Amino acid sequence: MSEAATPPGSVPGTVFPPGFDPVAESVEKTLCFRGFWAWAVLILLIALGISLFMWLLRKCIQGPAYRKANRIDGKVVIVTGCNTGIGKETVLELAKRGARVYMACRDPGRCEAARLDIMDRSRNQQLFNRTLDLGSLQSVRNFVERFKAEESRLDILINNAGIMACPRTLTADGYEQQFGVNHLGHFLLTNLLLDRLKHSSPSRIVVVSSAAHLFGRINREDLMSEKNYGKFFGAYSQSKLANILFTLKLSNILKGTGVTVNCCHPGVVRTELNRHFAGPGWMKSVLQTGSLYFFKTPKAGAQTSLRLALDPQLESSTGGYYSDCMRWPLVPWARNMQTADWLWRESEKLVGLPPLEPPPPGQSPTQNGNGTQNGNGSASASATANPASREMQSVETVVVNRS
Ligand SMILES: NC(=O)c1ccc[n+]([C@@H]2O[C@H](COP(=O)([O-])OP(=O)(O)OC[C@H]3O[C@@H](n4cnc5c(N)ncnc54)[C@H](OP(=O)(O)O)[C@@H]3O)[C@@H](O)[C@H]2O)c1
Repeated sequence: MSEAATPPGSVPGTVFPPGFDPVAESVEKTLCFRGFWAWAVLILLIALGISLFMWLLRKCIQGPAYRKANRIDGKVVIVTGCNTGIGKETVLELAKRGARVYMACRDPGRCEAARLDIMDRSRNQQLFNRTLDLGSLQSVRNFVERFKAEESRLDILINNAGIMACPRTLTADGYEQQFGVNHLGHFLLTNLLLDRLKHSSPSRIVVVSSAAHLFGRINREDLMSEKNYGKFFGAYSQSKLANILFTLKLSNILKGTGVTVNCCHPGVVRTELNRHFAGPGWMKSVLQTGSLYFFKTPKAGAQTSLRLALDPQLESSTGGYYSDCMRWPLVPWARNMQTADWLWRESEKLVGLPPLEPPPPGQSPTQNGNGTQNGNGSASASATANPASREMQSVETVVVNRS
């Protein structure tokens, strides 16, 4: 019987298990990372994986951008609340594409600073600083009067301005601030500009709403949140739901005119909208830091409004709710046309417009849904909140042309 040969380098007499090749094993050991290097490579791979994941997540958070290069040279646009945030980015992009933009802001100083900055970056001189305080119906009327004296056409109206979760205060006309600014001010503005939009058709209205509408309900018994005021889940959400119901009703009214109206949720965007946030200092710092990564930039937040304002493919699309540049279905309470009809009639009375449609049977033209004369019950609103006198006043002084 012959003995198995001892491999070179091994201790003579060592017994190896069957199939074990000590030569191959020693070569493998020299190639393999061990100790520090093995850990370094492992940590590097994990870091790369996490970075890739964070980059992809950030891209998802920012959402899609409107990438078509179509220009709108000479088209007349109004953007409300555009001295900062989403509105400012919207104007910047429209200006780069050649639009004549009326920047409708409540603070002329802040508006001018934004206008100069945008003119510088877009090389477009056709930007105009105009004062509009949506919390004052008179200011809305003054803005419209001046605009109509200056321009005979209006191609795009973007109702962007908004206020969120402020302490309960009243507008100049005595209405709850968030409902007054986010809904009523824009309601009057849009109605007073409809003749210009129709004259310039095909034209577009873009309403910046919010996903907060999901928490909202139109509180017919307490529209001005007098009995119960919830800053965010109450008043803000109600006002953003009102934006959507207004869009649906208006899209029905405007059928066949060539004027489209769509609304959108811009995403969760890092802007000044949370200026009324009243949490403790540490929570503000955590939020601010987290928002750098987890919130959209204002530029990303403007993309859905831009698509609705610009995309030739949407020229005849109307009555839609969009987010991340895509159309989304609405929850049942945001497409309830009975509520939309009621809100429209109520808003007409609150802003002093003559009714577009006859009131439903059993309700007098001056009654609101509660059977009372006005929904706010505020003494400061008395001059403008009496629906009958407002109607007379508005017909005489504003001359509403809804033809
Ligand atoms: N940011 C978000 O995460 C988010 C999410 C969903 C929906 N939205 C909606 O997006 C829109 C734009 O908000 P943003 O995030 O860009 O907020 P922002 O940075 O606070 O900008 C809001 C703009 O509205 C103006 N504004 C406020 N009250 C006004 C009034 N009474 N009259 C005229 N203008 C007034 C502000 O002017 P001042 O600077 O003078 O106050 C400002 O220019 C709002 O409608 C908001 O509800 C935002």
